[in-house]
Amino acid sequence: MAAAGLVAAGIAMPTAIVAQSIDAKDVADMLHAVMESDRTVYTKMVVNRLANEEGVIKASEFFHDDKALPLPAQMFRFGSELVADKTDKFFYSLLSLWPVNKQNGATTEVEKEGLQAVADDPDEPFYAEETLGDQTYLTAVYADVAVAPACVSCHNAHKDSPRTDFELGDTMGGVVIRIPIDG
Ligand code: HEC
Repeated sequence: MAAAGLVAAGIAMPTAIVAQSIDAKDVADMLHAVMESDRTVYTKMVVNRLANEEGVIKASEFFHDDKALPLPAQMFRFGSELVADKTDKFFYSLLSLWPVNKQNGATTEVEKEGLQAVADDPDEPFYAEETLGDQTYLTAVYADVAVAPACVSCHNAHKDSPRTDFELGDTMGGVVIRIPIDG
């Protein structure tokens, strides 16, 4: 009744918003801005501060057993797994050409190309159309950069890391975001 009253009074209901569309590329950029900010905040304000600067608590891959903080990459993966349970409108993961965990290696050609492109130029995101099965996706790859000393020291020292010469500011991998689009 209230809505009908507003319409009768000549006040438009906000239906126009439904008709607007946003470019998939912009959506990927927006999602990435949130992911990257949360990731940086967790790394700098929680892990680096408490583990490296204050020495209050460690960050550990085996955080349950060690009663420690989950690693930044684990926080990221737990979030992406929860999102995958909630929606199939997009998917994301953190991959690398030099993965500590082999499951975080590139599997598709587009992932390989994208990870190489952001390693070469971290400031330029990589975008491509990718068909997997019978679905076409916008696949966007963004550089994942060593923003804190903890990123570098832990990866370089990790027994499973194929690379031991990362430096602060280096691209260590990439965030891959996939959005299903009409082919
Ligand atoms: C205390 C150790 C530690 C710290 C600190 C750390 N990482 Fe990792 N990182 C790991 C481990 C272990 C994995 C594998 C996690 C998994 O099982 O998925 C990983 C995964 C990753 C991956 C996915 C590819 C791979 O290597 O498996 C990227 C990219 C990455 N980290 C970058 C970073 C960046 C950038 C930072 C800082 C913001 C950082 N890491 C901080 C240990 C660490």
